[in-house]
Amino acid sequence: MERLIVAIDGPSGVGKSTASRLVASELRIPHIDTGAMYRAIGLAAVRAGISTRDEKGVENLASQVHIEFIPGERGRILLDGEDITPLIRTQEISMAASDVSAIPGVRRILVRLQQEMGRRDGGVLEGRDIGTKVFPETRYKFFLMARPEVRAQRRYRELLAKGQATDLETVLQDTVKRDEQDSTRADSPLSYDHSYTVIDTSDLSIDEVVSRIVGAVRAIGA
Ligand code: DC
Repeated sequence: MERLIVAIDGPSGVGKSTASRLVASELRIPHIDTGAMYRAIGLAAVRAGISTRDEKGVENLASQVHIEFIPGERGRILLDGEDITPLIRTQEISMAASDVSAIPGVRRILVRLQQEMGRRDGGVLEGRDIGTKVFPETRYKFFLMARPEVRAQRRYRELLAKGQATDLETVLQDTVKRDEQDSTRADSPLSYDHSYTVIDTSDLSIDEVVSRIVGAVRAIGA
């Protein structure tokens, strides 16, 4: 039987992760955070002292390390068997992930991994290119967006909650820079087309976002 694949794409700070996790739990399928995989490669490069813009070096590294994402109530990401989940949500690793995600060889490896996972068990996959590249054939595609200042505020609160010292202005600048980089890279830039349902989450609660997505999945599937 065809596995259910729900694609949730969009820039950072639109509430993608929380919404995707809740949608997956309502639909009883795994939540697959593809950004965590790019973050793992970013962390591996930083640790190895390889520039995140060194295409050959990072591609080589990506082909040697073992990345595993384990879905669950709290999804976990493993790098060569080590649980690195608590280490990947810093501003430094966000930028490193964005850098390495522009490298075609890295995308090839991770997209294959994501397709294998989705084909095996289905899932709600969140990322930037799920509906355009990873599972373009799915009928369930959502693109979340929000005003930049709303997104920076959300990220800022997340970082503060984790005890990471920062200020709103820096977060806003980093958010805009990372989106610009993710949207203008040559390979699989952040984008959407008419096959997506677009949701502006600026003035919506998480529950409203979740019920719109779940409602649309059920309506499309009916
Ligand atoms: O969703 P996130 O912020 O954890 O993603 C980190 C970076 O990884 C993001 O800046 C772009 C990249 N990414 C990507 O290129 N494709 C995906 N499917 C997911 C993330």
